[in-house]
Amino acid sequence: MVPPRRDPSGFYWGAARPSKTGEARPEKFFFGAATSSHQVEGNNYNDWSEWEHKTANSKSQMANRKNWPDYILNPQAGGPNPLQKENYISGRACDHYNRYEEDFDIAKSLGHNAHRFSIEWSRIEPEQGKFNEKEIEHYWQVIKALRKRGIEPFVTLWHWTNPLWIRDIGGWENKKTVEYFLRYAGKIIQTLGQEVKFWIPINEPTIYTGLAYVMGQFPPEKKNLFKADKVLKNFITAYKKTYLLLHKKLPGVMVGNANNIHCHLPFNKKSLLDKVAVKLLQYFRDWRNLKWTDGFEDFIGLNYYFLDTIKVVPFNGRFILFDVRNPNKWISDMGWEIYPEGIYHNLKKLKEKNLPIYITENGLADAKDEKRAKFIKNHLKWVHKAISEGVDVRGYFYWSLLDNFEWDKGFWPRFGLVEVNYKTMERKIRPSALEYKKIIEANAITE
Ligand code: NOJ
Repeated sequence: MVPPRRDPSGFYWGAARPSKTGEARPEKFFFGAATSSHQVEGNNYNDWSEWEHKTANSKSQMANRKNWPDYILNPQAGGPNPLQKENYISGRACDHYNRYEEDFDIAKSLGHNAHRFSIEWSRIEPEQGKFNEKEIEHYWQVIKALRKRGIEPFVTLWHWTNPLWIRDIGGWENKKTVEYFLRYAGKIIQTLGQEVKFWIPINEPTIYTGLAYVMGQFPPEKKNLFKADKVLKNFITAYKKTYLLLHKKLPGVMVGNANNIHCHLPFNKKSLLDKVAVKLLQYFRDWRNLKWTDGFEDFIGLNYYFLDTIKVVPFNGRFILFDVRNPNKWISDMGWEIYPEGIYHNLKKLKEKNLPIYITENGLADAKDEKRAKFIKNHLKWVHKAISEGVDVRGYFYWSLLDNFEWDKGFWPRFGLVEVNYKTMERKIRPSALEYKKIIEANAITE
């Protein structure tokens, strides 16, 4: 059993806790879940929605029946499978745009005291410079609905989607997008700022850049390292400027990005090549951009998912990197290798930043809900170990509250604490959500 409430460092696992100098700190340990607008709201009209329609057919045709177990091909809860075109079109998503009250009731019933969600830029500013006041009012109601239930909102301003007019000027490759983003952020700060303390300007800038500009997997499907570098730098500039703006307009706010940090290990611990590849990946994928935001953060947001085991194979005078996923290990429905200890290593390394840390995402696709409870418990155990060794972790957001639209993969990966029947939109709380609730209520992990 992990010791309840108090650990040797004097940090409380939850509730108010004293600071190192002894005075009571008002912050609570936040337990909750996260979502993003495009993945749950439904009926968005942005660069992704157009791309989804264009690519859905070919994606469904390319998906090979042999690669899928029966429970994914015939999901119990109504929902498309990877061989169907509708899997790849976000469409109504979870209809969370209309059902947020019901969803927040569920979050509250599960003991959550914080919730992370994102604002959809394409709703707020569907045409350049024309702000839609009704949509701003919608998010005001969303924030109020959380507050009414005693749930602290953590607001993301950009979670991977762009209005079409931003796409048309070249998206984040264009420096002007930084300016436009700032204008949009300014509008949100001015209209919703009074009710929000925790702000996440940009979600996972490195993952988006990698998948959209290096791997060509996300729109705009480019494979160009120079462009990727430009995009990443524009994100960082936008982040820093938003940080300054938030502090100018709203004293006392807490601002930080949500950063995806992997755990990389060499396939062969004795192989110099494997070890060098791990070092390079760690630097370029995960840690480099964190240096660029030094001095512009009030907290660090950590998104942690899985282990990448790296093997380098020389081929025709070149080196090819493999991420060796061992199917015999503990994996999610997406083949991601579950490695709870990795969160601890990342937290220990982040301690160097000397800032509060929130786990802004951690979760897995598990349609049968067989692994989720253990996944959450084991990750929280390692988080607790980090806390007891002096790392200032102040919150944990499971990804995700609901099953949702997993980007280029579509609907089949089931990440939710709550199952969504995409035909009826019925919500069903999964058993693992109740296990998480027990941890939250006990403020401890009991076996
Ligand atoms: C990180 C992203 O922020 C989120 O949108 C995505 O669904 C999860 N990872 C799972 O892949």
